[in-house]
Parts: sequence; C-alpha cells; structure tokens
Amino acid sequence: MRTVRWGILGLGSIANKFASDLLLVPNTELIAVASSDYRRAEAFSEKYSSKRFYDSYQSLFDDSDVEIIYIASLHPKHAELSIAALKHRKAVLCEKPLAMNEQEVKAMISASHSTNVFLMEGLWTRFNPSFQQAQDWIKEGKLGRLRYINATFSFNGLDRGPDSRLFHPDKGGGTLLDIGIYPLFLAYQLLGKPKNIQASAHLTAHGVDQQLAILLTYENAHAVLYSSFAHNEVMSATIAGEEGEIYMDSRWHETPKLSLVKGEEMVSEAFDFIGKGYSYEIEEASQCIREGKKESAKWSLDSSLELMQLMDSIRQLCGIHYPSDRNEKK
Ligand SMILES: NC(=O)c1ccc[n+]([C@@H]2O[C@H](COP(=O)([O-])OP(=O)(O)OC[C@H]3O[C@@H](n4cnc5c(N)ncnc54)[C@H](OP(=O)(O)O)[C@@H]3O)[C@@H](O)[C@H]2O)c1
Repeated sequence: MRTVRWGILGLGSIANKFASDLLLVPNTELIAVASSDYRRAEAFSEKYSSKRFYDSYQSLFDDSDVEIIYIASLHPKHAELSIAALKHRKAVLCEKPLAMNEQEVKAMISASHSTNVFLMEGLWTRFNPSFQQAQDWIKEGKLGRLRYINATFSFNGLDRGPDSRLFHPDKGGGTLLDIGIYPLFLAYQLLGKPKNIQASAHLTAHGVDQQLAILLTYENAHAVLYSSFAHNEVMSATIAGEEGEIYMDSRWHETPKLSLVKGEEMVSEAFDFIGKGYSYEIEEASQCIREGKKESAKWSLDSSLELMQLMDSIRQLCGIHYPSDRNEKK
C-alpha cells in the first residue's frame, strides 16, 4: 500500500487531535503544516514530526510533495481555503461543517468537479466503527421499521465568552453548525430527508443559537434532536424501530459502547478506538486518494450538500444569520 502525503492547514485545537491520530495511521506521512502564525507552525511541526512548516497557506498549496490537505480553520474559511487548495490540485479533507451555507457547499463541489480533485467533509462519526456497527444492525433489519431517533450534543461553553468561535457570528458561532450537526447527521444518515422540520432556538445577543431544539417528521418516524453550549449532559442516543432499539452510550458520536435490545434480550458491544477516532476518516480519505476517487462513497458530496440544506432550513426557521450569507445568490 503506497504512502499518502498529507498537509494540515490551520493549526488550532482540532488540528492537534487530528495530527496525533495521523501518526497512528499506517501508510500516511505528514509532509507539511501551515499556520498564519510562524511560531505555531514551527511548534506544531516539531510536535508531530512534519517534514516542513509554513507561515503562509499559499506555501502549503505550492508544496508539490503534498497530496491532500486537511483544512482545520474556522467554518467561515472552509469554502475559500478548500477551493484554493483544489485549484492547486490538492485533495481536500475539510472539517465539518463543510461550509457556512448551501451556496458555499455548491461552490466547493463545483471546484472539485471542475478540477477533478478529491473533496470530503470530515464528518468523522460516519467512519467510526461503532457508528458503522449501528448502521449495519439497522441494514440487517434488526430494528425493523425505524420509528424514532433521539440524539443530543451539549457542553457548557459559556465561559469561552462572546468573542470565542463558539459564539461570535464572524467565526461561525452557534450550536447548529458546530455540534447540532452531529444529531442532524444521525437522523439524516438513518432516515434521510424529513417531510417537515420544526425548530426552536435561544439566540445570543449577537444572533447565534446557544441552545436549539429540532423536530424532524418523516412518513412513519420522528427525530428529536437538541444541541446547547449552555450546560453539560449525558450524551447518549436512541435509535428505535418496531422490532428493537439501539442505545449508544455517551458520547454517542464517538460511542465506546452500543447496546442492541430486542424485547428481553440485550447484546452489547464495546469499541476500542484507534487514537481519538479521527484515524478512521484519515484511513477513508487516504484510501480514496490511493484509488483515485474524487469523493467518498461512505460520505458523499451530495450527503454533505443535503445536510447543509437541512441546516439552512433550520437556520431560516430560527432566524440565524451570518455575514457569509451576504455572499449568497450573487
Ligand atoms: N471533528 C471534530 O471533532 C471537531 C472538533 C472541534 C472542532 N472542529 C472543527 O474544526 C474547525 C476548527 O475548530 P478549532 O476548535 O480547532 O478552532 P480554533 O482552535 O479556535 O482555530 C483553528 C484555526 O483557525 C484559525 N483561526 C482561529 N481564529 C481565527 C480568526 N479570528 N481569523 C482567522 N483564522 C482564525 C487559526 O489558524 P492558524 O493556525 O492558521 O492561525 C486556528 O489555528 C471548526 O470548523 C470546527 O467545526 C471539529
């Protein structure tokens, strides 16, 4: 198996977790990292044994040894930086959310198609073995017809303050795009597009959602979803069908344990993740590159687009707007 040569752009919190997992994935190599800050790039490069570091993103785009760039900047920069990378013929694994809105996602997909270069959203839960097992049980018919999904994602981030990326509109603040995307992903992946969406949010003074409740209605099912930056909670999830249920232990999006319940019987399965769990999306993207694929069959660009369209609809229902929206429909 040939070695895939990675670059990382935007060296903040998630880039550190990703890089430590990249070191655990065989047949991958960290070639270069880039940050707006020279010292951050230098320290990151040393810590994760990158061959080179840059204090300009352009230098990373110009590095001919790099095949794929992991974009780990704030959400409002995802579209611009991914498109720039694609135009330099670099494959892209971009952090979730893929962008700020439908128009940006469409522009990214269009750039991937016109350059014929790989693009994937880093929706890491999709690739984790525990999620895969849950999905396999459902596909095998163990739950019968799905009726109900309940998933939440909350933590108390109030102490980060209004200028943090969690709360500032210019930084893509708000729960939906950051953490509400996970419960929404679960419902979308298992039930598809809903017939009806209801949503209610508590907005901050700057107009982003600090707490959000979503009710999705399907032909024969409901998904009850919730996200908050205002409190902690046990983050388990329930997937219920007419013939059984799956209970995903907290935190369900990286769950260490699944239980399949059918009447009086219960089967539990525990999972030991490789690293923090980002290794699985790294393996998927690397294998796609080796095989010359332009997108992942497991989490396609159409899926990313439809997930973003759902988020746009929820934002519209709740009156959540971002500066990036001003660029829409030019
Ligand atoms: N998959 C997951 O589990 C997960 C978890 C957390 C976050 N994320 C996603 O990863 C992305 C980054 O999150 P994070 O927590 O890592 O963010 P972060 O540490 O606050 O910032 C990441 C990088 O973004 C750039 N940046 C920060 N503030 C900026 C500003 N004001 N203007 C321009 N650039 C700025 C910096 O890049 P430079 O180093 O170049 O200066 C920084 O290193 C988000 O889109 C988030 O949704 C994913």
